[in-house]
Amino acid sequence: MSRSDFPYARGRRLRKSENIRRMVSEHKLGVDDFIAPLFVVEGKNVKSEIASMPGYYRFSVDLLLKEVEEIQSLGIPSLLLFAKVPDSKKDNEGTEALNPEGLMQQTVKAIKKEFPEMVVMTDVALDPYSSYGHDGIVKNDKILNDESADLLAKMAVSHAEAGADFVAPSDMMDGRILLMREALEENGFYETGIMSYSAKYASSFYGPFRDALDSAPGFGDKKTYQMDPANVNEAVKEAILDEKEGADILMVKPGLPYLDVVRAVKESVNLPVSVYNVSGEYAMIKAAAKMGGLNEEDAMMETLLSFKRAGADLIATYFAKDAARLL
Ligand code: PBG
Repeated sequence: MSRSDFPYARGRRLRKSENIRRMVSEHKLGVDDFIAPLFVVEGKNVKSEIASMPGYYRFSVDLLLKEVEEIQSLGIPSLLLFAKVPDSKKDNEGTEALNPEGLMQQTVKAIKKEFPEMVVMTDVALDPYSSYGHDGIVKNDKILNDESADLLAKMAVSHAEAGADFVAPSDMMDGRILLMREALEENGFYETGIMSYSAKYASSFYGPFRDALDSAPGFGDKKTYQMDPANVNEAVKEAILDEKEGADILMVKPGLPYLDVVRAVKESVNLPVSVYNVSGEYAMIKAAAKMGGLNEEDAMMETLLSFKRAGADLIATYFAKDAARLL
């Protein structure tokens, strides 16, 4: 029997009181780490609840500004914007995505005008603008890589022109970070950051999001560009490539089913790593809480903490406001 065995070693001594638990706690959540996703729609005075995301809304720009004000007052430093485009403005090339007066561009300008300190990140991908609901241009039922990546680079410049602090490519085309970085540099936007969705999986947990933006793929699935849930080495490979190509923050997505991937990526790169606690993860907790099976706040905080434990520096989450209120 050594002193590191029972009864000398009693783990419960360090769990005895709230203060002791606080002293030895290894990871802490903070509002500084939250990125609040926001859905913007055309029109005025619109606040519509997303059916599969109870308590989460799409806002028109006027009401979105009030939401941003609240987010700012809670101390959350950044936003991730998604635009819901009407079907009439969708086509295969996502032409509307490059409209300098498009919904995304207008929203960025409006937010930066009223809240210049707020860090505004924009989603860069074709799916909300694509008549096929795919993240790139479609030809003969295939998603073209290089043509799509060129277009996404232009989209990134357009968002930078509107004042975005970071562009966040969520498309998984090869080489798009390099093309985006080059395009931003060439256009003088050397201060605009890139938060790359480096390891984005072909996941079933995006269901509610596609409902929010009406962006579900019209045919097939996204498995030829988003990653196979079976793979982790590949996530590290993608992250290292994006780091070399000029990304500033690397993201793993979804979150909860991929905590091991967050850890693996974090240990392989020297950039901040973010994790996306996606719509399906939000909906799961909401649904279970509604059925009375668990306490929503506790389950939310435990989930968010698990991302810190896995090594995430930043967390994009629909719970940002709720969690910030508790912190
Ligand atoms: C699309 C995109 C998706 C999400 C963010 N950007 C969905 C998809 O790839 O089909 C999902 C976010 C979420 O589920 O919360 N480029």
